[in-house]
Amino acid sequence: MPSLAITGAAGAIGSLLRTRLREDPGTDLVLLDRVPLTPEAANETVHTVDLTDGPGVAAALKNVDAVVHMGGIADEAPLADLLAANVLGTHNVLEAARLHGIRRVVLASSNRVGGFHPNSHVTTPEEPPRPDGLYGVSKVAAEALGRMYSDKFGVSVVCLRIGSFEERPSTVRELSTWLSPDDCVGFVRAAVAADTHFSTVYAVSGNKRRFWALPPAAFYSPSDDAESLGDGIDGELEPLAPQAGHFASAEYTERHL
Ligand SMILES: NC(=O)c1ccc[n+]([C@@H]2O[C@H](COP(=O)([O-])OP(=O)(O)OC[C@H]3O[C@@H](n4cnc5c(N)ncnc54)[C@H](O)[C@@H]3O)[C@@H](O)[C@H]2O)c1
Repeated sequence: MPSLAITGAAGAIGSLLRTRLREDPGTDLVLLDRVPLTPEAANETVHTVDLTDGPGVAAALKNVDAVVHMGGIADEAPLADLLAANVLGTHNVLEAARLHGIRRVVLASSNRVGGFHPNSHVTTPEEPPRPDGLYGVSKVAAEALGRMYSDKFGVSVVCLRIGSFEERPSTVRELSTWLSPDDCVGFVRAAVAADTHFSTVYAVSGNKRRFWALPPAAFYSPSDDAESLGDGIDGELEPLAPQAGHFASAEYTERHL
């Protein structure tokens, strides 16, 4: 039975992945979070573990075929906290993959690695990072760890630069950045299965106003578009303002300094 681990399984995206992916025939789920979880199906195993606990993470990931690493701090925070959860935590997942020969690691990166690119620009994963805050810096480091483990140790890694994961778009920015629940699951399934050794892709719905390049259709073609749910959301983004919107303001980071 293929065994798929999900870190951060108690979180917003992890919970959705859990309920969808456990329905895949012949799949066992191994669920990790620092929040205690209870198995909800015969094909679920749960581990209460902090990502900063390297041996604990390695023990929980023994015998899995692939890891979808969603655990960590998902927004701006003090740098020490981000370094622990997002950078050391990602290192511990990749190190477990190296030790156990795990076939694929999917890393949750973020659009915020490039939040200072302007709205008028279509950003690709090949461009240098322009993080909009400390959280973005931690995701740049997580991606770099993935690249290094791929080049140096042969671990196969797909970095997903996740957009705005929401049930539906609610702001003008989200008309560009929205990632629908269905497309989120679609991107993760594609990242687990992709015929690649290392890739970085933007995980965003097929929004008419999006400012991030989509991956090749052979990787995944999103099915949703925020525009179809945008009734009542009025306005346009400033062309030269940062793609991160208010996340890019100095105040957004200053409260954590
Ligand atoms: N939600 C979005 O729109 C979005 C956008 C871009 C990137 N991401 C990334 O996707 C991933 C999942 O996001 P989310 O919205 O589900 O976040 P979330 O905050 O809802 O879930 C994160 C989970 O990680 C767990 N966690 C945090 N620190 C931990 C630690 N030290 N040890 C063990 N578990 C820990 C939390 O308990 C939580 O269950 C994150 O890496 C986030 O940075 C999310």
